[in-house]
Amino acid sequence: MGNDTNVTWHDHQVSRDKRESLNGHKGCVVWLTGLSASGKSTIANVLDHKLYQMGMRSMVLDGDNVRHSLNAGPGMLVDTHGETFAKRFGLGFAAIDREENIRRIGAVAQLFSQAGVIALTAFISPYRADRDRIRKNLEPNEFIEVFVNTPIELCEARDPKGLYKKARAGEIKGFTGIDDPYEPPAAPELVLETADKTAEALADEVIVHLRERGILPA
Ligand code: ADX
Repeated sequence: MGNDTNVTWHDHQVSRDKRESLNGHKGCVVWLTGLSASGKSTIANVLDHKLYQMGMRSMVLDGDNVRHSLNAGPGMLVDTHGETFAKRFGLGFAAIDREENIRRIGAVAQLFSQAGVIALTAFISPYRADRDRIRKNLEPNEFIEVFVNTPIELCEARDPKGLYKKARAGEIKGFTGIDDPYEPPAAPELVLETADKTAEALADEVIVHLRERGILPA
């Protein structure tokens, strides 16, 4: 393990158990993975609302929003932080940038989970190794990998941001599913077959699953 000097790990005074019993449910990371326009963010937000109505504590972390803040691209950072900083820390969509994007989100989601919150993440997260690294950092039963299995034809037909069209026209290079890989999970906790189902119904499937795992009360 790397040894960054003079940095000491402190255990928290308020244990995770105490936080969870205050909330009345366990903390965890519900990691939605799937193609762009597969429905990840929509499902996460419907799920978030349902959990809120049930009195559960949850929080959505979503690709498009986080890429405007924590993981902003170089173009967004250049005015506020300058060229050198933007080049070094701004994230794009090359494999190494996606890896760092997912690493940071994993760390943030873990903090939410440790605070007893159900973190709902909605990122393409196309690389299996990046997702597996997060799983390894978390406790058993803390990482719930949910494959949002929407056929690319359907994602492309939806194309809410016109990005598939641009990718087909060669205006965006390295677009996931077109000229960049998507590696589906090998053994996800849950697969959502989205075609012909509403976001409501899919969110309910996740809720049933979280009950079965004992994350939500019966
Ligand atoms: S990830 O691959 O690093 O997990 P993330 O979920 O944060 O991606 O962001 C995906 C969103 O960025 C897409 O829904 C789309 O709106 C936008 N995007 C822009 N360029 C690309 C690209 N080359 N590949 C995929 N998505 C892209």
